[in-house]
Amino acid sequence: VKVKAITPLQLELAGERITVSTPRLRKRLRVTRKVAELLLAAQSGLDTAPGDPVVAKLLGLGFLLPHETEVEPAKSPWREWGAAAWNFHTHTRDTPFVVSNPEQLERYREKLADRPAPVATRAPASDLILLLPRVRAPMEASFRHVLESRRTHRHFTEHELPAESFADLLHYSFAPLRFADAGEMGVLQLRAAASGGARHETEAFVAVFAVTGVTPGLYHYDNIRHGLVPLNGYADQETFEHLTHRQGFYRHACFGVLTVAVADRMSWKYRHAAAYKILLQNVGHAAQVFAMTATALGLGTAMTGAIRHTEADTLLELEQPSEFTTFALACGLPELGTDGLPTAIRTPSRPS
Ligand SMILES: Cc1cc2nc3c(=O)[nH]c(=O)nc-3n(C[C@H](O)[C@H](O)[C@H](O)COP(=O)(O)O)c2cc1C
Repeated sequence: VKVKAITPLQLELAGERITVSTPRLRKRLRVTRKVAELLLAAQSGLDTAPGDPVVAKLLGLGFLLPHETEVEPAKSPWREWGAAAWNFHTHTRDTPFVVSNPEQLERYREKLADRPAPVATRAPASDLILLLPRVRAPMEASFRHVLESRRTHRHFTEHELPAESFADLLHYSFAPLRFADAGEMGVLQLRAAASGGARHETEAFVAVFAVTGVTPGLYHYDNIRHGLVPLNGYADQETFEHLTHRQGFYRHACFGVLTVAVADRMSWKYRHAAAYKILLQNVGHAAQVFAMTATALGLGTAMTGAIRHTEADTLLELEQPSEFTTFALACGLPELGTDGLPTAIRTPSRPS
């Protein structure tokens, strides 16, 4: 019988353990080397002996197909985004929610006990800290005003930011506002932004360029003590421009933030690839709170995921591979047109 393997096929080799998966099927298979070799050999068609039980099984599972089967080419968006993204997508959908089944929950609890819960805060990078003023800046803007005014600002005026606004913006974006006792899950931070799993793995690393009363430099924002812990690395506006592919936001920004995921906090609780999706959604939530709080304080923000991640991770002296940069934020005093919008926005004037 002539057969062919389904494509694209992803083969994971980890010592003796071989796993095959395809974004076209929900199943992932643990296979022997012989089966993996068979699938490889069948990429462009293979004659197999009639009645071969392994071939019959793979045909039944859909990993092998009768040779004449037409396999539809990848459609958008997977055609453009590629097999790795497609496979991640398929295999992080419809994941079982563990707490809906008491037996599973019990097994899950036992599994969690295999290592201690990671601490919810990052150890300080140095003994020094610059403690910041707490909740000092006026914030009288109405919620409607904030909703209507939040825009991406890529041009800032060359001014210093008051330390109070700077400190409050960090506080509301990245610091806990309350705590919750979650039993075996430990004491959880509750921040203004929601966070899938409440692990709050997003930390802020801050590069200060022009904030009154704060020495320019690179810091980790210690969100429990509400202060800046200096790092060894050096970063000015030019450094952040370089790290974000020279988009221009940082030329006159008063400070920049690189958000960092401390992924262990999350991977201890969620032991499935889908957690990576949630982690990225969580950064988006934090960034939105950052942008809206900045708006309420009369400031402007820009953000980008186009980061030279490896260089940024090195600059921030992150623990590899469990910590990594996720997003870059810029903040300053926005340059506004007469209509109150960023000067680059053109309002449409003709039907299109
Ligand atoms: C996840 C994300 C990534 C972004 N990346 C960039 C970027 O790389 N460069 C940029 O100029 N703007 C970036 N932006 C800003 C968007 O371009 C902006 O939100 C969009 O143009 C709508 O404008 P508004 O924010 O004023 O509503 C990003 C926004 C988000 C949410």
